[in-house]
Amino acid sequence: MASALIEHHRAFQSALLGWYRAHARQLPWREAPSLYKTVVSEFMLQQTQVKTVLPYFARWLDALPDFAALAAAPEERVLKLWEGLGYYSRARNLHRLAQAVVARGTPPRTPAEWLELPGVGPYTAAAITSISFAAPVACVDGNVVRILARLTADATPFRDSSTAAKAFTSLANSLVPASEPGDHNQAMMELGATVCVRQRPLCLTCPVRNFCAGARTRAPEAYPRLAPKQIEQRHVFRLWCERDGALLLHRSASSARRLASQHELPRAEQLGVEATKLAPRKPLAEKRRAITRFQITEAIHAWPAPRGRLANPELVWVSIAALDAIVLSGPHRRWIRELLAARS
Ligand code: ADE
Repeated sequence: MASALIEHHRAFQSALLGWYRAHARQLPWREAPSLYKTVVSEFMLQQTQVKTVLPYFARWLDALPDFAALAAAPEERVLKLWEGLGYYSRARNLHRLAQAVVARGTPPRTPAEWLELPGVGPYTAAAITSISFAAPVACVDGNVVRILARLTADATPFRDSSTAAKAFTSLANSLVPASEPGDHNQAMMELGATVCVRQRPLCLTCPVRNFCAGARTRAPEAYPRLAPKQIEQRHVFRLWCERDGALLLHRSASSARRLASQHELPRAEQLGVEATKLAPRKPLAEKRRAITRFQITEAIHAWPAPRGRLANPELVWVSIAALDAIVLSGPHRRWIRELLAARS
């Protein structure tokens, strides 16, 4: 199936590009594109949807309009602008990347050189260099895997999406045109996001359905065959300790991968409180959220404020009036607001 697609790659490319030119969403990093806009948008779009990124991108560009401004900004400011987007190591890596680009004088141009920079994996390196330097390399993520598995009706079972991405990289690369590879990659992303969607793909309006073996099977959703994610349940107990108009928070080390320098309500164990003491009590609130393959239930319990010096240097008292000025992880800001509003 893949060979039929490769044989017709020119017709495939032109159908896809023609559709992209006519139907692409107008996105701020596509208007008057620059290397900086491309890099910032690609970092923000890692694991995050376009509609979530849009307001962050606009604020970021206003506050830090180029590599030099980002490189010179204090880390606290960078993290504050990222607050609520999640996966905060992306913000720290982007900051370090800007410093490396400024130190070099001229930015790198090849995927291999970009891969050396912090936070840049194969997908991001391909996106940046194809869009900004016309490097003929394919971006392969879950969306592109889905399109290619359907085009070729490939029923190979895959353990996970990164194994599948590796398996489809060679086919993806052989479909990239020498001219305008950036638009081709963005067209594939667009097709995956708007037409060849996970459930109920819009095959009737698909610009490349004539090339699609999956559509002919009438069950395109069967592709790709990915093993279901093993969901794990986790329970977390958090404490709400208040004293003299201040709230006790945990501030992660700046090197922490997920939460670099973020504040959160402390976990019970960070104050030496055993979960068994809390489990039978009624919490102030119970929240559920999903992070990667974990389904997490977080119970927030009122707890007497600890007295004296805190043994754990990552625990800090923050005045409730000053909460807006610190970097709080997104869900925690919502929960704290909600709990403060509930008692007033
Ligand atoms: N996802 C990753 N990169 C993207 C881009 N440039 N446009 C739209 N979605 C994307």
